[in-house]
Amino acid sequence: MPATCVVGLQWGDEAKGKIVDLLCDQHDVVVRYQGGANAGHTVVIAGVTYKLSLVPTGVLRPHVDCVVGNGVVVHPPALLKELSGLAALGVDFSGRFHVSDRSHVIFPYHLEEERLTEESASSSDHLGTTRRGIGPCYRDKVGRVHGVRMADLAHPRPFRERLERIIAYKNRLLAAMLDDFTPFDARAIGDEYLEYGRQLAPYIRNTSEWLHQALESGRRVMFEGAQGSLLDVDHGSYPYVTSSNSSASGIAAGSGAPARSIDRWIGVVKAYTTRVGGGPFPTEQDNETGERIRRVGNEFGTVTGRPRRCGWFDVVAARHAARVSGTTELAVMLLDVLSGIPELKVATAYERNGRRTTEFPGSIIDLEETTPIYESLPGWIQDLRGVTTWDALPAPARRYVEFLGAQLGLPVSIVSVGPDRDQTIRVR
Ligand code: IMP
Repeated sequence: MPATCVVGLQWGDEAKGKIVDLLCDQHDVVVRYQGGANAGHTVVIAGVTYKLSLVPTGVLRPHVDCVVGNGVVVHPPALLKELSGLAALGVDFSGRFHVSDRSHVIFPYHLEEERLTEESASSSDHLGTTRRGIGPCYRDKVGRVHGVRMADLAHPRPFRERLERIIAYKNRLLAAMLDDFTPFDARAIGDEYLEYGRQLAPYIRNTSEWLHQALESGRRVMFEGAQGSLLDVDHGSYPYVTSSNSSASGIAAGSGAPARSIDRWIGVVKAYTTRVGGGPFPTEQDNETGERIRRVGNEFGTVTGRPRRCGWFDVVAARHAARVSGTTELAVMLLDVLSGIPELKVATAYERNGRRTTEFPGSIIDLEETTPIYESLPGWIQDLRGVTTWDALPAPARRYVEFLGAQLGLPVSIVSVGPDRDQTIRVR
């Protein structure tokens, strides 16, 4: 049974959670394959608000199995807190929540390392991370010497011995860098994490094997990307990216399921662009238009509460992301937010050193020096939040969506005009 993937084609927060939630009716399994508790989304069902971060959105549907794949980095206390919050709201996930035994574990020293790098960085090197220890944990994973996986928590003696060595090293490093550093206590952290391991043991398994069996038995699987493709560590606006492959390119590595199992690749975009954290953003509108989009779209980070930077739709960046992710269809979100703006702009090319280009640059310097070339489209004044069919959209709104699809060379299958499930237009 072919699988589906849902990925963001911008800098995150494209409202992928709503698409995943909608498609849960047609799927039996939802898989996270990268990132960690840096992602966050809020789902409101029947007046109850659910805040999810590490746990896939599918957990709110009783028929859906949820998998945290090997490519995800897990902070056990954050995961346990999220699970107990869900249990308190009456969500029963027993037997249908699975965490990879190969996923890497975030420790307190990762949070401290990140605080140190973020606070000591000069303003131009400041990445503006979510400070969830994501980057330092992935650094230890790739470095191998200091990486710890969920499976290791099931072996107390070797785990403690290894943690002693890791913490001795981290303490030496951090003491040299910080004036008022209180060393980490390997024994206390060992006790704490072994207890987390015991509490999480019912969920930890070989999720790659589990997924292969699910696919072979005909279960319908959906892969849920966190962050957006432009934050991908290889294909995004490096170094202002997250530390994982947040485009669809991360699916096979981060889940153990082959990419050939997928035949539907949905790219999710906002009708405009936002970004949270540092880094170049060619179409940013640091002006009244940007403020209006932020206010109407409630563009504040779910995890950190930071105001998101807002700007016009960037075709160059989104087309690059769509190609990298192999997108076959487009979902255009938050179209309602643009109502009332008389003239809408869309960047269809960049200009750099007097030359026009439609290529997304690899160098951050080039991206910073880029000037967008805009095309203007007429706006509309009607409130779209009650519109439920394509034909009922005002003609300029239809033209705007068609323009985005044509520019990206993709059919638009879904248009969203509000947070609720019914505020969704299926396009013919
Ligand atoms: P990190 O993922 O915490 O290392 O942060 C790296 C960059 O990715 C920062 O600019 C963050 O603001 C951004 N980022 C991380 N997670 C998300 C997300 O879920 N949505 C939007 N931006 C994110």
